[in-house]
Amino acid sequence: FHAKTLAGKHVLITAGPTFEPIDPVRGITNLSSGKMGYAIAQAAWEAGAIVTLVSGPTALEAPYGVRRIHVQTAQQMHDAVMAQLKQQKQEVFVAVAAVADWRVANASEQKLKKTGDNDMPQLQFAQNPDILATVTAMPNPPYCVGFAAESENLLQYGSAKRQKKNVPLLVGNIGHNTFGKDDNELVLFDVHGHTILPRADKQTLALQLVAEIALRTSLM
Ligand code: C5P
Repeated sequence: FHAKTLAGKHVLITAGPTFEPIDPVRGITNLSSGKMGYAIAQAAWEAGAIVTLVSGPTALEAPYGVRRIHVQTAQQMHDAVMAQLKQQKQEVFVAVAAVADWRVANASEQKLKKTGDNDMPQLQFAQNPDILATVTAMPNPPYCVGFAAESENLLQYGSAKRQKKNVPLLVGNIGHNTFGKDDNELVLFDVHGHTILPRADKQTLALQLVAEIALRTSLM
């Protein structure tokens, strides 16, 4: 039993990686199982929220009660998030997805063929939209929560990133051994400083994070 601390609130979450095609059978992606984002979606639903999960490709089942929208690319994830925000006011936006910073600008409609040994395809890249930055720049944005996966100096980079990303709450993954794992260790950065959520399974951490979000949005 969990207290319905987000009762009736609309919560929008991105999760998983994005996949950026090179050709119809190849692409580039980021390491992300989607487990943390899905656990947050489930925890928000348990807290009484109306949850929409915009998810890149993962092997996970949608949590019970959560509406899931499948996307593949960062551009599709961006468009799905913007469409949701237009359709329905969201009180909270949690950007958990590991979005590819670049897409292949010259992706091929047909499978690229191997030819000579030294004849490699020349990929060109284009910048993807920053979904979180787009949302925080909106007039009357939802309460925005960002994630960061730094490989070093997390405490220092985390608080700088929170300010740069212009979010009230930034969640850092401690260490880089979280990918695909069932547990994790988080550090929350807000205007007052940082709080560590010690190593636990992702479900437990998600409940703790949702409780923190509920506290911070209870007067909204
Ligand atoms: O700048 P960095 O990629 O480290 O920021 C990570 C945060 O920004 C995460 O919350 C991630 O979901 C979000 N993000 C995004 N769109 C991007 C890149 C990152 O929403 N294109």
